[in-house]
Amino acid sequence: MERVMGGGMLPVVLTSLGVVLLYRILVRLRKGASVQGAVVVITGASSGLGKECARVFHAAGARLVLCGRDAARLQQVVQELTASSANTQKQTHTPCTVVFDLAKTDTVERAAEEILKCYGQVDILINNAGISYRGNILETHISVQRDVMETNYFGPVALTQALLPSMVRRCSGHIVVISSVQGKIAIPYRSAYAASKHATQAYFDCLRAEIERYGIPVTVISPGYIRTNLSVNAVTGDGSKYGVLDRTTATGWDPRDVAREVLKAVRQRSKDVVLAGPLPTAAVYLRTLWPALFFKLMSSRARKEQKPKDE
Ligand SMILES: NC(=O)c1ccc[n+]([C@@H]2O[C@H](COP(=O)([O-])OP(=O)(O)OC[C@H]3O[C@@H](n4cnc5c(N)ncnc54)[C@H](OP(=O)(O)O)[C@@H]3O)[C@@H](O)[C@H]2O)c1
Repeated sequence: MERVMGGGMLPVVLTSLGVVLLYRILVRLRKGASVQGAVVVITGASSGLGKECARVFHAAGARLVLCGRDAARLQQVVQELTASSANTQKQTHTPCTVVFDLAKTDTVERAAEEILKCYGQVDILINNAGISYRGNILETHISVQRDVMETNYFGPVALTQALLPSMVRRCSGHIVVISSVQGKIAIPYRSAYAASKHATQAYFDCLRAEIERYGIPVTVISPGYIRTNLSVNAVTGDGSKYGVLDRTTATGWDPRDVAREVLKAVRQRSKDVVLAGPLPTAAVYLRTLWPALFFKLMSSRARKEQKPKDE
């Protein structure tokens, strides 16, 4: 494949990008369904993108179930949303909260029961919670690789599988997952994170095909960098907190804009959405169309980012 892709690829790459661009413009013009009164579950609703999704779906009249590990932070979000309702004409609903740790997958089934008790059903599940990772594979303990996988992959899988039977019974529902551009391309020193997001993409692609017959769409959203605390909360190779707001994250997309795009993707029942600038989007296509060049660029990036102690 790499040899075949070696020469005369530019016209193919440019034509493919043109077709993709045209398709995205047409999709954006499509009108979507309302979420007024829909029961929307959002994991990781205490901060960052999850909190902004809560704001956007609340303002659109959804009945929210907000999930996270910290009851006080979730209550704070509920208070902020309730206060914001005072200034709107639209009918809004006071959100419910359910506290649980997605990494403890044996507790997820009980949490799903609690979620279902809030409104008796779930219309839209937004698997948003996640944790990032920064580290060199040579210095990363296997337990860290596993922990990131528990939160980013097994947690959403367990929650989806626990809520899915109730959707299948009603032949109604919508599963959404916030993956990442790193679910489509792997960047050096992000192994645990990129692997967990690649697994996420694969699982939800399989799920989409399997449950389409029940009228339940699956939307995978892959953002590039978003201005949140994701890098601050990231874990390193020894499991300690990274604690740094990376420049790429600090200069990333406004989470409010990303949340609005999430609402749009839900309304349009989009299947797969990449929310990133031209460079990361081009890299996603390059990985498929010209892998040899992509791998070269990643090796060069890895060399540049190598820490002095690794040299
Ligand atoms: N920021 C970016 O550049 C970026 C880019 C692409 C994709 N994403 C994805 O966007 C999603 C949201 O991340 P963010 O940027 O908003 O980061 P964030 O501000 O750090 O938020 C992460 C959220 O996940 C929750 N969470 C983490 N571990 C959890 C666990 N074990 N159980 C339950 N909840 C847990 C946190 O809640 P508590 O700590 O309160 O429990 C928090 O609300 C993630 O899936 C991330 O991979 C982010």
